[in-house]
Amino acid sequence: MTNLSLFAISHIFALCFCLVSIVTIAETADIKLPEIQIQNVLSESAAPVKVQITGKPEISLKYNDVYKWNVTRNEILNSTATFGFFTANWHAFDPSSDSGHAISYQSITTDGIYQSFDNINYELKAEWVQNN
Ligand SMILES: *[C@@H]1O[C@H](CO)[C@@H](O)[C@H](O)[C@H]1NC(C)=O
Ligand SMILES: *[C@@H]1O[C@H](CO)[C@@H](O)[C@H](O)[C@H]1NC(C)=O
Repeated sequence: MTNLSLFAISHIFALCFCLVSIVTIAETADIKLPEIQIQNVLSESAAPVKVQITGKPEISLKYNDVYKWNVTRNEILNSTATFGFFTANWHAFDPSSDSGHAISYQSITTDGIYQSFDNINYELKAEWVQNN
């Protein structure tokens, strides 16, 4: 192989790498990640609900408390809520359904965990399961 063709090949590789990088940056910039708001509306008389979101410290939510944060990675976030002998597991964030929305409202109720994008229409995401 001549020096000239090696030179050409290395330039083709550099160009491809550059194009891939530009496409990756463009795709990342296009994804709108929501703010998550988790509210405990379970019961005024109940003990606080403990919530563990993957990669975050466990939090304790009293009745009506709202925990808010902005999602920073476009990855599934597993979450567990614990209330007495009951546990509910859900995805606090799921790229396939939640990306592109401004706010993901999540409500901890006696039924389980509900989710909404407009704070009006709620969908049940997880029910309480009694621990053994
Ligand atoms: C999330 O981001 C929005 C827009 O930048 C900002 O208004 C809001 O205060 C942020 N929320 C939190 C909990 O930091
Ligand atoms: C979330 O939990 C599921 C099982 O419930 C597991 O397969 C998956 O790896 C977990 N994902 C993360 C990001 O922890």
